Amino acid sequence: MVTYFNGDFVDDDDATISVRSRGLNYGLGCFGGVRGYLADDGEQVFVFRLEDHVARLQTSAKVLFMRLPGDRRQVSEIILELIRRNEVHYDVYVRPLLFSNSNRLAPLLREEDSCFTAFTMPLQRYLDKDSIDVCISSWRRVADNAIPARTKPTGIYLNSALARREAHDNGFDEAIFLTERGQVSEGSAEHIFIIKRGVLYSPPSTEDNLDGITRRSLITLLTEDLGLPFVERPIGRSELYTTDEMFLCGTGAEITPVRSVDRRLVGDGSIGEITKRLQAYFGDVVRGRVERRREWLSPVWG
Ligand SMILES: Cc1ncc(COP(=O)(O)O)c(C=O)c1O
Repeated sequence: MVTYFNGDFVDDDDATISVRSRGLNYGLGCFGGVRGYLADDGEQVFVFRLEDHVARLQTSAKVLFMRLPGDRRQVSEIILELIRRNEVHYDVYVRPLLFSNSNRLAPLLREEDSCFTAFTMPLQRYLDKDSIDVCISSWRRVADNAIPARTKPTGIYLNSALARREAHDNGFDEAIFLTERGQVSEGSAEHIFIIKRGVLYSPPSTEDNLDGITRRSLITLLTEDLGLPFVERPIGRSELYTTDEMFLCGTGAEITPVRSVDRRLVGDGSIGEITKRLQAYFGDVVRGRVERRREWLSPVWG
């Protein structure tokens, strides 16, 4: 496999950093996660909302005093070229990562230490179940005032990792974070939607969650294309115990239905009708079957 590393496309094994790197020692960096989907012809790969992912990375870089190796179009082109060089004709995940590659002591953010890398991997389902059992984490979501949660800083994922570990140790598939104020925030790497009496709800990113691209896309699809009612508002913990349907969403998770929360079944425990409808439509959009949403897709080939 080929990896983009600091200005060159190199063999994976040659994309290495020092153990002294600030990126490694202090978690100084930010990243993205992008998916490409194999089209129905078995050849073409459509990258979903590539420029929006790069735009979010630019925002993260700005907040963290880091520098990308070019503008939105140039970084998008590096990612497309990387996918081509890896001869990808399958569902793929791309990880662009910008980090501090200074080897000096003490955490310090400086534009000139920025190192940009990107790598690809085949990816089918991120949460490999038709529907999942989740718990409310005893860990609180990192407040935006501690680490900017609406961006995607590497260091913040220690919070996610602690919550996932706890969830797995207790027999759950995924953890749901509450904010320090006790409101529903997000999963370890997914946003949350609940559906009650036919209306969809999801908490805004002021609830210390990432500015999510899948979440934003789903809001557009469900309101504009499917005509479903949606309300963005804070959500309380016990609303998760009493909802008719619930799903998590994200680039990795796509749309993952939730079967239970803290051992309380969601609805009757089966995947709800609205969730199923949205899953099917989202699958059509990302594989290029919905003409009006083709503008969200960057073709890799041709
Ligand atoms: C903490 C967190 N929340 C939510 C998401 C989902 O966001 P997106 O749809 O932009 O991938 C991710 C994944 O990137 C994440 O890491």
